Amino acid sequence: MKPVELEPRDERILAGEQGETRQKMLEILVALGTVFGAQRLVPVHSVQVSGASYKTIGKYGLEWLEQLDARAVVPAVLNPIGMPRGRWQEMGIDRDFADKQMAVIAAYERLGIRLECTCTPYYLSPIHYSDHLAWSESSAVSYANSVIGARTNREGGPAALAAAIIGKTPCYGLHLAVNRTPHLVVDVATGGRDLSIAHHGALGYLAGKRVGNRIPYFRNIRPNADGLKALGAAMAATGAVALYHVERVTPEASRLHFDTSGLEMIRIDMREIEEVFSQVAVDAVAVGCPHCSPDELTTTALLLSGKKVKIPFYVFAAQVVIDANRDTVASIEKSGARVYADTCMVVSPVMERYPAIMVNSGKALAYVPDMCGAVVRMGTLEECVAVATS
Ligand code: F3S
Repeated sequence: MKPVELEPRDERILAGEQGETRQKMLEILVALGTVFGAQRLVPVHSVQVSGASYKTIGKYGLEWLEQLDARAVVPAVLNPIGMPRGRWQEMGIDRDFADKQMAVIAAYERLGIRLECTCTPYYLSPIHYSDHLAWSESSAVSYANSVIGARTNREGGPAALAAAIIGKTPCYGLHLAVNRTPHLVVDVATGGRDLSIAHHGALGYLAGKRVGNRIPYFRNIRPNADGLKALGAAMAATGAVALYHVERVTPEASRLHFDTSGLEMIRIDMREIEEVFSQVAVDAVAVGCPHCSPDELTTTALLLSGKKVKIPFYVFAAQVVIDANRDTVASIEKSGARVYADTCMVVSPVMERYPAIMVNSGKALAYVPDMCGAVVRMGTLEECVAVATS
């Protein structure tokens, strides 16, 4: 295996001149780069670190974080954690879990990671076409690559943290233009119907199973940004899709005019998409997977206006988005629904108390059964509100 070429400054870090943590972090990046054939490290604009929920990293993850001693040198945020930091008691989180979760947060803060805990870091600060990133959470990676045209592999928690502390990541995989061309075409037979955001999630749920880890090129759909978000998140959950293109919609498909002739084609029709939606009785509703955009909050508020929810109704969004949409959030909460930051229906232990949960997300549909031990029902946002309020 060819070694990764390092700049003199990085050689000095590797020699331990800037402390043991920076040395170990660079060793992680060099090892990763060597395994994947990277020739060099590339500077990154931002980092998103996974492994922030105590539910997923546990005692040993926390101990590992607490013995590190360095600071992030590029803007870095966290993936969702197990509870909303400001409202954990109200959400019914027990104190023991809250204490451990706050210890994880404190460890990351000491490392210079901004305490924004979200799978939608693209709503926090601008990311641009061809920016190199080191993001972790699969839906955020998919959105950055596909909807923005930025470049990131899906980083594991330690590799993302290493990128934050060194400011670089190994340049391989989706950082290279040559690896971003489509592998197959997905022809969607919508019968002329406009797909809702949830229908794009259902489409992604189906497509991910058939696409695996390849790069699909979609035809015959025209999703907006929230539809793209739902499509990509679901494909990253049922498959391992980190980049997709949509004809005449996503930036690389529009700018680069890929030649798709001769590629394998799969077809997904409306009947299959509709079959993802079901009718089982549920005990709670959870929306905001990935975390809600401002538009999704507005739509939720409009649908809930003048109504009262009769079962728990959770809405998840980034704190920044909540803060910028206070009136909308107040309007949603007037119905009895709750809008929480920092966490979600999959990483919070609270959702485990419900035997059956309704969602409007293909990704949540894929993860909730295993992660929360619940039956899950897929519906549109309109159907979620109708079920919760009737
Ligand atoms: Fe985000 Fe949680 Fe869904 S991290 S993508 S809301 S599973």
